[in-house]
Amino acid sequence: MNTPLVVANWKMHGDQASCARLARQIVRALRHQPASAEVVLAPPFTALNAVQRRLSGSPIKLAAQNCHWEVQGAYTGEISPVMVRELGCTFVIVGHSERRHVFQESDDMIARKLAPVLRQGMRAILCVGETLDQRQAKKTATVIHRQLRIALKGLTKADIANSEIAYEPVWAIGTGQNATPKQISQVHRLIRKCLTNRFGPSAGKHARILYGGSVKPENVASLVAVEEIDGFLVGGASLQSETFLPIIRAFSQK
Ligand code: 13P
Repeated sequence: MNTPLVVANWKMHGDQASCARLARQIVRALRHQPASAEVVLAPPFTALNAVQRRLSGSPIKLAAQNCHWEVQGAYTGEISPVMVRELGCTFVIVGHSERRHVFQESDDMIARKLAPVLRQGMRAILCVGETLDQRQAKKTATVIHRQLRIALKGLTKADIANSEIAYEPVWAIGTGQNATPKQISQVHRLIRKCLTNRFGPSAGKHARILYGGSVKPENVASLVAVEEIDGFLVGGASLQSETFLPIIRAFSQK
């Protein structure tokens, strides 16, 4: 089995002090009882530095929630892959559904971001997922195929070895509504098949496919039991150590 990966996406929550405090709690808990999963924290940009200082010397890694595709230039308000790497990020989340739907990032824009992240020596976490309308219209497979085809267009086998794919059904994010184990395994299998077809069996087998969407301590046991899940991308429940740590620990039982 691939080493599980659990990513905390703190979205636009927390100031420097509260993010640093939460990071410190997680570091201490995992020092006391190491996790079998790899753990990554994605605080808001403004707290990256404060959190990075808490993480130094620990196995927990730092992620940016987004970045631009250019390394520098006249892009007011944007942050480049070089800038987040300089702050200690080793992962970047690309194409989160809130970027796609709230900020109108297109498949092409998302595709442009992946290679620059990888060229800076960071790992990319590419998010894909369908809306409720698309699921009800039985277009889930078409949407996921399209998102993957466009995003992965220019990437090589070596690039995919440095990337994770996160399946986040838009209708399950922040709604308290989970996708069922059956729905998740179907989509995860489809993603793995796409990767295998495009990059070969070894790349397909080793890619980590995460699930995100209302993952909570109450439902994590049924989710880790899903063979096709290699980890989680967690929003709301990652904002407190009391709810995030049980999600990390759930993989010790897998
Ligand atoms: P929730 O866990 O709050 O549903 O958010 C999921 C998510 O968007 C993680 O990136």
